[in-house]
Amino acid sequence: MHFKNDLLLRAAKGEPTERTPVWLMRQAGRILPEYRKVRDSVSGFIELAQTPELAAEVTIQPVDLLGVDAAIIFSDILVIPEAMGLPYEMVEKRGPLFPNTVRSEAALKKLHISDGSELRYVTDAIQITKKALNGRVPLIGFAGAPWTIFSYMVEGHGSKTFSAAREMLYTQPSFSHKLLQMITDSTVNYLKAQIEAGAQVVQLFDSWAGILGPKQYAEFSLPYIAQICDAITTVPKTVFAKGAFFAREEMGKLNCETIGLDWNMGIAESRKLIGDNKTLQGNLDPAALYGTADQVREATIEMMEQFRGTRHIANLGHGVYPDINPEMVKVFIQTVKDFK
Ligand code: CP3
Repeated sequence: MHFKNDLLLRAAKGEPTERTPVWLMRQAGRILPEYRKVRDSVSGFIELAQTPELAAEVTIQPVDLLGVDAAIIFSDILVIPEAMGLPYEMVEKRGPLFPNTVRSEAALKKLHISDGSELRYVTDAIQITKKALNGRVPLIGFAGAPWTIFSYMVEGHGSKTFSAAREMLYTQPSFSHKLLQMITDSTVNYLKAQIEAGAQVVQLFDSWAGILGPKQYAEFSLPYIAQICDAITTVPKTVFAKGAFFAREEMGKLNCETIGLDWNMGIAESRKLIGDNKTLQGNLDPAALYGTADQVREATIEMMEQFRGTRHIANLGHGVYPDINPEMVKVFIQTVKDFK
């Protein structure tokens, strides 16, 4: 029988904890040679994500190998467009690609609102993972925030500017709202299915929040995040909106327990803007892990000092970079665990 570690759940709810819980965004996959091995046994990322036993295996790897205080289910934010009828490909070294994009009412008519049932492979993976974890650490479910998903569906691939997606907001605002609402409804159904399968926390990734201005963020992103937060009532919710420094005060009013900070966001300033009623998650610069062990320790302690005495879940300010040495990830994790 394993010791039950529910630090993350208590920290999310603002309950007392013996120490600060720690995990890393994008901890499953990428950095671990053990992940590469599993991935190389199949045709690629998509087959891995759609094979529940293997998805569960790589979900648990960072718990066993790195000692994190939470698992995050191995999947991708782009499974939602696929479930709505817009399939994606993962191109080696380049990233996601949608052979078709959604830029017109005609394209929109070919999509449907997902009821979550298309994503059985994710909920199956959650069930297998939960059983295998046996309460060792909580399991995090996740989805992309509607604006970030919209960006990929319109643009068709990653981009520095997502100018085609942002163009839509100006030239076809009502089409944009329609698509955003369909994504939102699909995401609510999907997150509910993840929770029913066993996810104990859910996180929304608004990875492209920072390419919108404050006014557009308030119109095209935040209201949809708010809808999702209001619809999910049974588990703690985390909202991570990368680059949305201008929206921190508004995010403090969301119906969620935790707000993720990126590394550009000052900790004291964020606390002031967001208020005392939320747990803050983050926010070490992912590049800090390129340093020596001593440098990683120093940077981690500096971060921990700034969060001292407040509701906090330790993490990086964005996903861990693929070429980071797992040993430095361990130094980061151990430094958080030893922090007094
Ligand atoms: O801890 C985890 O890694 C859990 C699983 C997870 C993946 N993607 C697996 C993945 C999670 C939480 C995501 C989220 C995700 N996916 C986001 C939001 C977080 C962020 O980083 O901002 C975004 C924007 C995506 C879209 C996406 N998926 C991109 C841009 C890419 C290519 C580049 C990259 O980041 O790796 C992916 C591919 C992807 N998703 C991989 C993995 C493990 C690599 C695929 C491979 O194995 O070749």
